[in-house]
Formats: sequence, structure tokens, C-alpha cells
Amino acid sequence: MGMTGTHEQSLQAVVAKRAVIWHELECGAYRADMALWRELAHDARAEMPPGAALDIGAGSGRVSLDLARGGAKVTALDIDPVLLGALERRAGSTGIQTVCADARDFELERADYALCLAPMQTIQLLGGPDGRIAFLRRARAHLRPGGLLACAIVTELEPFDCTAGGPGPSPESVRIDGVLYMSRAVRVALTRGLVRIERERSVLPAEQREPPGAPSRERNVIELDHLSAARLHREGSAAGLQPAGTRTIAATEEHVGSLVVMFRA
Ligand SMILES: C[S@@+](CC[C@H](N)C(=O)[O-])C[C@H]1O[C@@H](n2cnc3c(N)ncnc32)[C@H](O)[C@@H]1O
Repeated sequence: MGMTGTHEQSLQAVVAKRAVIWHELECGAYRADMALWRELAHDARAEMPPGAALDIGAGSGRVSLDLARGGAKVTALDIDPVLLGALERRAGSTGIQTVCADARDFELERADYALCLAPMQTIQLLGGPDGRIAFLRRARAHLRPGGLLACAIVTELEPFDCTAGGPGPSPESVRIDGVLYMSRAVRVALTRGLVRIERERSVLPAEQREPPGAPSRERNVIELDHLSAARLHREGSAAGLQPAGTRTIAATEEHVGSLVVMFRA
């Protein structure tokens, strides 16, 4: 028997709400990179004329919202309309422009951004060298001459496996409307070209619910392309960008450190 339209819509709404909750839980609390993005956005604004920032893979707005609240003019681009919808609901009067597009294939109205940033390993989600070079070309096409592109990458992830029990990273958790959401990395495996990160996501229904619902559990897998700063700099040169050094973001108790590979258009 098929679902009614209303039933299907409410199911879609639950799935969308959960997608935002998981994204926020797994990425939203990360702060170690923020000082660098603020510094780069500040430099972009200090240019004459003041430059705008393009946030690639903006998600639900962790970085875009912070920069825009600090006075930056921000365009937030992401392939996921559900995450962008959450960003728009939070954007208030910040003036953030959102664009739902693929980072490898986008065309925006303006091509004079002073800063393009790709935080949190987004550039390692683009399907290998061809996808990265396509993105690097698109970024270059949207930067003003001398504009800066900054891409955060992880180069060293320690493999581990606690799927059969044993100690591992502590879970991130949040309670919303009495429901407890928990997410924990349970395995990192390195293959030739990919870093495979597995998370266990659990949902524990509100205790006061009658009758009590059953807890649910699912695996989430993300695959990051292996990437070094030297390789990314070579790919940037192939896309017509000038290498502009690297910066480091220190590891925290919950997150590994990362490198930020930079280019000038
Ligand atoms: C690790 S999250 C980073 C989110 C946010 N920038 C942050 O730092 O919290 C990666 C983001 O990249 C987006 N993404 C993945 N592939 C993409 C693509 N091909 N084009 C645009 N966005 C993409 C995902 O939807 C997700 O929001």
C-alpha cells in the first residue's frame, strides 16, 4: 500500500530535520579553525573596494554565519538544499546569499570575491583529482585578481576500529524535544586512495513517551580523498592559481589538526 501525500511529506520533514541535527552534532561545535577564517575575512574586507567571501560547502552555516555576523559579505554555497534551508532560517538580517550548487560546476553573478574558503575537508569530498581541479578552476573564475582561496585538508588520520567494542572517541550528543541523538566515530580505515570514516548514530526516544519508542541505530560512512598539501598545490597550479603557502589548525581533544592550503588568483 502506498503512502498518502501528507504522510510522505511528514516523513520527508523528519528525515530533513534529522539530517540537520546530525550535521550540527558532528560539525557544528568545531571552533579551532574559526580564528583563521575571521582573520582572512577581515583582510578581505580591508581591501579597496572591500571584498566579499564565498564559503564552499557551507552546510548549515557554521562558518558563514560567524563571518557574516562579524560584518563580512558572504555567499554560502552547498550542494545540499536541506542544510542550506537551515542556514537560511538562521541567517536573520546577516545578508548572507545562499546558492545551492555543486562546487565543481557553479556559475555565480559576481566574479570579484576577495576570499573563497573551503573549510572542514570539503575539498576532499569532490571525487578525486578531476573533481578537485574542476572546483579549483571554478574558484579561480570567481576570485578577483589577487583574491585568496583557502582549503582546509586533513592529511594524517590514525586508523582505529572499535566496532567490536573497546575504547574509542567519546560520542557527541544532544537532546532535542526530549529525544537524545548520539554520534560516535567507530572506525577510521585507510585504503589506497580514501580515508573511510564510520560513525554510529543512535536515537533514543523521549523517556516520557507512551508507549515508549524503540532506540534506533544506524551507520554513517564518509569517504575523504587522500590528499597532501604538495599535491593540492600542484593541482591548483594546473587550474591557473598561484600557491600562497599553508597555515595549520591545531588538533583539539575531539578533532585532528588540519592544514589550510592557500592560493592567489
Ligand atoms: C564537512 S561539511 C562542512 C560544513 C561547513 N563548511 C562547516 O565547516 O561546518 C562538508 C559540506 O560540503 C558539502 N558538499 C559536499 N560535496 C559538495 C559539492 N560537490 N558541492 C558543494 N558542496 C558539497 C556538504 O553538503 C557539507 O555541507
